[in-house]
Amino acid sequence: MTSTVLNFQAETHLPTEFGTFRFRIYKNHLAQEVVAMISPLLDQDSAVPVRLHSACFTAEVMGSLKCDCKQQLDFALAHIAQHTGIVIYLPQEGRGIGLSNKIKAYALQESGSNTIEANSLLGLPVDDRSYEDAIAILQELGVQKIKLITNNPDKLTALRTAGFSVESRIPVPTVSNAHSVGYLETKREQMGHLLTDADLYHADQTQHPSNERPYVHLNFAMDARGRMHQADGQACDLSCESDWKRVHELRERYAAVVVGARTWTLDQPQLTARASRLGRRPQRQPDRVIFAGRTPCRVVPDARRSFVVGVAESPRTNCIRIKASNRELESPLNALYQQGVTSMLVEGGLTLLQSFIRQNMVDQMTIYVRTQSADAAQAMLSDQFPGLPTETMQASPLGQGVLLSYLPEHRYQTEAQTARSVASAAGAV
Ligand SMILES: NC(=O)c1ccc[n+]([C@@H]2O[C@H](COP(=O)([O-])OP(=O)(O)OC[C@H]3O[C@@H](n4cnc5c(N)ncnc54)[C@H](OP(=O)(O)O)[C@@H]3O)[C@@H](O)[C@H]2O)c1
Repeated sequence: MTSTVLNFQAETHLPTEFGTFRFRIYKNHLAQEVVAMISPLLDQDSAVPVRLHSACFTAEVMGSLKCDCKQQLDFALAHIAQHTGIVIYLPQEGRGIGLSNKIKAYALQESGSNTIEANSLLGLPVDDRSYEDAIAILQELGVQKIKLITNNPDKLTALRTAGFSVESRIPVPTVSNAHSVGYLETKREQMGHLLTDADLYHADQTQHPSNERPYVHLNFAMDARGRMHQADGQACDLSCESDWKRVHELRERYAAVVVGARTWTLDQPQLTARASRLGRRPQRQPDRVIFAGRTPCRVVPDARRSFVVGVAESPRTNCIRIKASNRELESPLNALYQQGVTSMLVEGGLTLLQSFIRQNMVDQMTIYVRTQSADAAQAMLSDQFPGLPTETMQASPLGQGVLLSYLPEHRYQTEAQTARSVASAAGAV
């Protein structure tokens, strides 16, 4: 067992949105403050749910989407509020390298390095964390048997090596987004983190405020003149390799990919995630949904589920038909949701996109504009879709253009709620 010096400072009861906890604070040998959040009831005779959580200022305070730290902290607090346990909050920002170094590493990642390569380029360790303080706190609290809330095998090893009986692991479900999926892949592939395909590649159907329809992500592209297609209906020079990779990663994560009848007929799109774009085998394929209205759509059968929403009879009957007599979206979206389509990527064309925007059925939007200027991209988007909050959209350079992203506020407001319901559903393993 460890002999780390840790000085107890104070304890109070802290009411939080997850529940009321004992908030116990210590100082370590570097005079850093270490916190233990402890559920009011704790049964030391049974295995105690424990999370060793390293601070993440960028996600937990600033709402960064580049990692899953806040999701993990929220899950752990919600879990111990429901099932008893301890969350130990350790001052080890950026896997122990500190905030400045973490931001330097993020800057390198903008030029293509992954999290491991970026730390190495800076001459820093990939993981510089220590669990000695946490071990000392658990000993002081009289904990011997543990159910560890983690996806990180190093933490299991650290506690077992310190002499605790780690009886089981409580996996932390996380939800990737376009900004975090690469980081989560590196954690799984190169750091051995125990993440499932569902964590990495499935969109979160719990992010939207209602459970009556799928989570809706609109994604489309515009050329340097703000056009989405040419006058003759042909696609113009819209995208580039980097953007195609991003789009195919999205297709892999969503339950379904959606297009309007004219796009289906004119472009004959496959609506698949393809190895040639991803640079690896796709993990899964989305269902396809065609909003057909009055237009008959021919759907060639394949292994995937296909839905046609509209009034016209389809010449092929193998697809699932959802009746919709006008352009109202609420009832067909509800019907799709009942069929298990919990999330969807709507790719166009213009008429269908406008329909989703006007009926306020959008949870997330990404628009690739093939221009180097973020201002020009925002201006062209405003012209095409008057009323969109283009000035609040995040603009990031991507390949030969700019990616504009929009996440409405409700997504952040429901995060704690989501963590609570996920924790309650997961229970102890
Ligand atoms: N730039 C991009 O990212 C991108 C992406 C995809 C497609 N495109 C281009 O877009 C062009 C097609 O766009 P488009 O605007 O002509 O057609 P569209 O949006 O692909 O399809 C419109 C059709 O969908 C049917 N529909 C059914 N339910 C609807 C609803 N709730 N709201 C709206 N429409 C509904 C309508 O049928 P009813 O008239 O019977 O109601 C309408 O005819 C193609 O040239 C394609 O290449 C560009």
